[in-house]
Amino acid sequence: MILVFLLVFLNPPPYAFALNQEGLYLLQVKQSLSDPTNALSDWNNRDDTPCNWRGISCNSLTRQVESVNLSDSQLAGPFPLFLCRLPSLRSVLLVNNSINSSLPVDISACRNLTTLDLSQNLLVGSLPHSLAAIPSLQNLILSGNNFSGEIPASFGQFQRLQYLNLAENLLHGTIPVVLGNISTLKELDLAYNPFFPTHIPSELGNLTNLEQLFLAGCNIVGQIPSSFGRLVYLQNLDLSLNRITGSVPSSISESKSIEQIELYNNSLSGELPLNMGNLTTLKRFDASMNEITGAIPAGLCGLQLESLNLYYNRLEGTLPESITRSETLQELKLFNNKLSGPLPSQLGANSPLQRLDLSYNRFSGEIPGNLCAKGQLEDIILIYNSFSGEVPESLGRCTSLGRVRLKHNRFSGRIPDHFWGLPKVFLLELAENSFTGEISKTISSAHNLSILSISNNRLAGSLPDEIGSLEALVEMSASGNGFTGQIPRSLVELSKLVKLDLSENKIDGTIPEGVKGLMNLNELNLANNRLSGSIPSDIGSLPVLNYLDLSSNSFSGEVPIELQNLKLNVLNLSNNQLSGELPPLYAKQIYRNSFVGNPGLCADLDGLCPKISQSKNKNCVWILTFIFVLSGLVLVFGVVWFYLKYRSFKRNKKRATVTKWRSFHKIGFSEYEIAGCLKEENVIGRGASGKVYKVVLSNGEAVAVKKISGGVKKGDFLNAADTERDEFETEVETLGKIRHKNIVRLWCCCNAGNGQLLVYEYMPNGSLGDLLHSSKAGLLDWPTRYKIALDAADGLSYLHHDCVPPIVHRDVKSNNILLDGELNARVADFGVAKIVKRVGKAAESMSVIAGSYGYIAPEYAYTLRVNEKSDIYSFGVVILELVTGKPPTDPEFGEKDMVKWVCSTYNQKGVEQVIDPRLDSTYKEQICRVLDIGILCTSALPITRPSMRKVVKLLQEAG
Ligand SMILES: *[C@@H]1O[C@H](CO)[C@@H](O)[C@H](O)[C@H]1NC(C)=O
Ligand SMILES: *[C@@H]1O[C@H](CO)[C@@H](O)[C@H](O)[C@H]1NC(C)=O
Ligand SMILES: *[C@@H]1O[C@H](CO)[C@@H](O)[C@H](O)[C@H]1NC(C)=O
Ligand SMILES: *[C@@H]1O[C@H](CO)[C@@H](O)[C@H](O)[C@H]1NC(C)=O
Repeated sequence: MILVFLLVFLNPPPYAFALNQEGLYLLQVKQSLSDPTNALSDWNNRDDTPCNWRGISCNSLTRQVESVNLSDSQLAGPFPLFLCRLPSLRSVLLVNNSINSSLPVDISACRNLTTLDLSQNLLVGSLPHSLAAIPSLQNLILSGNNFSGEIPASFGQFQRLQYLNLAENLLHGTIPVVLGNISTLKELDLAYNPFFPTHIPSELGNLTNLEQLFLAGCNIVGQIPSSFGRLVYLQNLDLSLNRITGSVPSSISESKSIEQIELYNNSLSGELPLNMGNLTTLKRFDASMNEITGAIPAGLCGLQLESLNLYYNRLEGTLPESITRSETLQELKLFNNKLSGPLPSQLGANSPLQRLDLSYNRFSGEIPGNLCAKGQLEDIILIYNSFSGEVPESLGRCTSLGRVRLKHNRFSGRIPDHFWGLPKVFLLELAENSFTGEISKTISSAHNLSILSISNNRLAGSLPDEIGSLEALVEMSASGNGFTGQIPRSLVELSKLVKLDLSENKIDGTIPEGVKGLMNLNELNLANNRLSGSIPSDIGSLPVLNYLDLSSNSFSGEVPIELQNLKLNVLNLSNNQLSGELPPLYAKQIYRNSFVGNPGLCADLDGLCPKISQSKNKNCVWILTFIFVLSGLVLVFGVVWFYLKYRSFKRNKKRATVTKWRSFHKIGFSEYEIAGCLKEENVIGRGASGKVYKVVLSNGEAVAVKKISGGVKKGDFLNAADTERDEFETEVETLGKIRHKNIVRLWCCCNAGNGQLLVYEYMPNGSLGDLLHSSKAGLLDWPTRYKIALDAADGLSYLHHDCVPPIVHRDVKSNNILLDGELNARVADFGVAKIVKRVGKAAESMSVIAGSYGYIAPEYAYTLRVNEKSDIYSFGVVILELVTGKPPTDPEFGEKDMVKWVCSTYNQKGVEQVIDPRLDSTYKEQICRVLDIGILCTSALPITRPSMRKVVKLLQEAG
């Protein structure tokens, strides 16, 4: 007896019999879940109630479980239905776990639930209609799962629901009309579901308590219902990334509390409603990337406005004076419109303006003097306008500035001294204006200056020595000015310098000693100056120099033999005073033009040294001249006659709506069949250049048809110069000939009156971008993503290395990587950007971008040149997309782009924060290796990016 007592006393029994029934139910819950991190370790039967267990809270009086919150616990398994045995359970939160399989119909047994949050899990199947039978449910949050099927009609019967979030699932069908019956609803979020083309039911206007409405990326067509005017408590309206047409309804201004309106990336047209003056609460308005016309309504610029984005529209008129009333304005992005007139003189005077981008408009007048009055201005981007006058002295005190882009305006006068030396400025782009004066010595304090672009102005004086102290300088372009004096000796200290262009000035003296310190120099252009002395042999040891132009100076002495070490794309030493022998490598006919005009330089190349003119056959010369003139006249007449004939011939031909043009493969369909199918309901995609249609042919096969319209006026193209059209044809033909397993076939090309049709093979799984960012991403496990990266790399490598001539894609992005039935990837749309640019001369937007936002290599911003290396950068972004699962532009990145975000997050928070959480962690090592390749490809310096062939090899090795 005593022994038994002692045993009991010393070793408490492993089973306490006191744990109540609720605790026992919860232990069943624990048993049904896989718990790899032991998150539920304190759930055990030694307690008498579960009230102190992790994630559990009980009613303080009855000690009954009221809420279970097991968010972020890496739990896996089906939804634990045992929870519904807890009679007082009011809230279940299992956010961000791996709850899988489908949600059981019996969930309605959780009778007293008010909150059910299962967001960010792996639930599949359809939404249980029985959810609506839970009488007290107020918050239903199922976002970020893989639910499919339609939204059940029963959802119209919720009694108390206030918050419904089904975003980021795989729901299809349409947005049900019955949702308009949930009169208690305050927030409705259906964003990012692959609905069938759906209209916004006007019944949603009955949800008069609604405060938040998120319908972004829902495949919405049709118009914004005017019934939205009844949503008077609406604070946030997000309809971005749809295909909404029509104009912004004026009823929108009846909302008394609206703070944010997001309408970007739709097909809205017409004018913005003028009565927006009632939107006094508005903080953010974004209707960028639509086709909105007319003026910016004065009323839009209310007192609370923080951010106004209307870029890529067709807006006209001036920037309303009322914009200066807002004391909160931080961001104003109106680029690529047709806005004109001067800026309000008080712009920035009252508000903490940070980002101003008015590029590609027709603005004129001066930069307002108070733009930086609050000292917050970081970006001032005014390129390609008609601004004039001087840079205000006040901007020289604006030390917050980081990006200054004033290129291609009519600015003049001296640049304020301190403007040269702003400490945070990394891009100073003043090219193509009429600035005068000198570069101030204060430039020495521009410690962050990386690009100094001042070409084609009227700057003069000598280049200050202080430039040599700008350690961050990567590019200096100062051509086409009146600079005199010598090249500062200090310049050779700039070890990061990639491009130095001082051409077309009046610089004299010699090339300074120690040039070999410019380890990263890629381009050296000193053409058209007054430089003399010998060419330093040092130049031959610059490891990455590939552009060397010293033409039209007075260099003398020999061509240094060391130049043979360079791999030059451009070598121009013509029109100098060079003498002696040519280095053997260059003593070839193909280099003739690199050396002409050097009287002392005599290799055995024709015409390198001027011949003594021979004057004996004077008569002969006269006769020859006569013959030339005569044949020239005949030629001119001939061309004119031919042109007239050809034009009338073309005019007759134009009447046919579709002209078959080029077909590159054996095709079993007629182009007339296609023309009939280009209807709005067949649109499967759209880009800057035009829409893409899916066309099912009479033989049952499907093709994808890209219609390049790009603002080309009817028949414009046919009237274009013949040479231009020939170029187009040759180009399309080249594309049509390409056959590679990872490249989408171009079947044929037709001309459809008001645009061109490019007919491609149809890829049933659509684009990588659509799949990856639509929460269908669940389909893309890591092995599939890896294979896609490798396939696409293979395709691009073929374009870069195996095509003659090599083809630069120019628009590599996840939306241009298409997936066939087996999820094999093929590269699409290569080279089209260039063609489109040529065809769509009228489309301004195309002539200014090459590539898509988020994928454009940084050097493009200042070189405006596209080459293979820019493709490799864009492909790197695609790799980062595959690894992170995030789109290249994401609000989460803040002011950073994808590349910067990945690098900083990787460095500061570790690689786990970068990798898509949906990916199986067993592949982590391989994912990291691929991530490293992505980072390498997106290196800021083009020369450090690997070639596409190398990328393929690296990817294979990573696998
Ligand atoms: C639920 O738990 C998570 C993580 O433990 C916590 O961040 C969150 O605030 C909790 N939610 C509620 C409503 O208590
Ligand atoms: C749970 O709901 C039922 C009705 O569905 C009600 O009778 C019961 O009192 C509720 N229990 C608690 C603890 O609120
Ligand atoms: C809901 O809206 C529709 C159309 O907007 C209207 O015809 C209907 O009467 C409304 N229903 C209720 C209950 O208000
Ligand atoms: C604001 O709305 C009222 C009607 O609700 C209208 O009478 C008034 O003209 C509007 N004000 C502006 C500035 O649009």
